[in-house]
Amino acid sequence: MACVIIVGTQWGDEGKGKIVDLLTERADAVVRYQGGNNAGHTVMFGEKTFILHLLPSGILRKTTSILGNGVVIDLAEMIKEIDELAQMDIAVEDHLHISDRAQLVMPWHKTFDRLGEEQKGKNKIGTTGRGIGPAYEDKVRRSGMRVGDLLEPELFKARLEEIVEEKNKLLELYYKSDEPSFSAEEIFSEFTAYLKILKPYIRDTPLLVNQMIEEGKNILFEGAQGTFLDVDHGTYPFVTSSNTLAGGACAGTGIGPTRINEVLGIVKAYTTRVGSGPFPTELLDNDGELLQSEGHEFGATTGRPRRCGWFDALLVRQAVRLNGITSMAVMKLDVLDKFDTLKIAVSYRLSNGEHTENLPRSLENVTPVLEEMPGWKCKSAGITEYDQLPREMLAYLERISELVGAKVSIISTGPKREETIVLNPDQFWL
Ligand code: GDP
Ligand code: IMO
Ligand code: MG
Repeated sequence: MACVIIVGTQWGDEGKGKIVDLLTERADAVVRYQGGNNAGHTVMFGEKTFILHLLPSGILRKTTSILGNGVVIDLAEMIKEIDELAQMDIAVEDHLHISDRAQLVMPWHKTFDRLGEEQKGKNKIGTTGRGIGPAYEDKVRRSGMRVGDLLEPELFKARLEEIVEEKNKLLELYYKSDEPSFSAEEIFSEFTAYLKILKPYIRDTPLLVNQMIEEGKNILFEGAQGTFLDVDHGTYPFVTSSNTLAGGACAGTGIGPTRINEVLGIVKAYTTRVGSGPFPTELLDNDGELLQSEGHEFGATTGRPRRCGWFDALLVRQAVRLNGITSMAVMKLDVLDKFDTLKIAVSYRLSNGEHTENLPRSLENVTPVLEEMPGWKCKSAGITEYDQLPREMLAYLERISELVGAKVSIISTGPKREETIVLNPDQFWL
């Protein structure tokens, strides 16, 4: 039995989807524990590309796929995702399970996400506009609605009427919006229709996950976003509204910390970020453009160009600590094929002139101190044998591993399943 958490170590989009899909071959279940359809996890196999937003990436291999209680669910978008998969001949019926305790993303959450961003103007977070922040706000202030509430239509309707009244006041009096008000009646009939489709999937998922653990099954916990988008440990306020860290997997699925065997950190060989917020190693020059074009760095959810920069060892070292990472999958090394020289941030100079190797609370006004390493200047894309990797790449990997304090267990040289080198596959946990 093994419980393995897959977690992003930077600002998201590290390649979590590819690795979850790869390891799902050895897993009995894949569980999402936080976030919602703000995520965009890309999986490529054969000639097909899938981008999963809400459904766990394990769904593509018809493995038991669970949306845990910590996830916020936009039912309309989920049904759309299920339909899109059906069109690609992937049926979810027998293996999708949705937590009855997961929070619902309601129509006002999306409206308030958009209006809140408009109100912030140039200080906006650059959210994905999926209503994630407002949904988690309501969860914490105990005004949320849960998937299981749908199973009791009378109670659901009564709560809906109460909440809609409050949300309409907010819309009119606080946001001073002239958009049409929310109608409890319309929302009730919309959600009643969703329930008809989704009822077979709704269940007590903490019980299911714990039973699977007791039966000795292998379970993957699929993190969304990344360490520095965590609401406590990220670059606050430019973060998402959930605990993205490995620790979030316990509360977000209802299992105890003693159940976790491994935490696999997904590390992009350079750094990217979508949305606003500080980014010390960001490149606004030709090198940044080359990373962007070679890495096809466009958001999988919103299509926005991703900001690109050098590898930041302070970030990933902090991620190793915060998540208790036991080993790393280093992704997108092939994107660096054309660079003469690679740079790695090894410390920061602070605004008072002092240096630090530990990540400070604020990343505004720090200057990264960069160490240079030679590039490999040859095609590594698609290499599947460790012995064939260029010498300079192995040196780059060794330096990263030394700086961040974690060993490398997987090397990725392309977006496809097979473009991967799993070191010591026989000793792999699953
Ligand atoms: P996630 O959100 O962490 O799952 O990552 P995304 O799917 O948003 O972004 C990662 C992108 O990189 C996707 O387009 C993947 O297909 C792609 N990708 C993953 N691994 C590799 C790799 O090793 N090399 C290259 N070139 N692309 C990769
Ligand atoms: P995956 O799982 C990258 C970013 C948004 C914004 C901030 C808050 O694909 O790695 P939100 O809509 O969550 O309130 O937006 O977080 N963000 C992501 N960036 N990858 C993601 O997911 C992200 N999910 C949210 O761009 O800066
Ligand atoms: Mg993504």
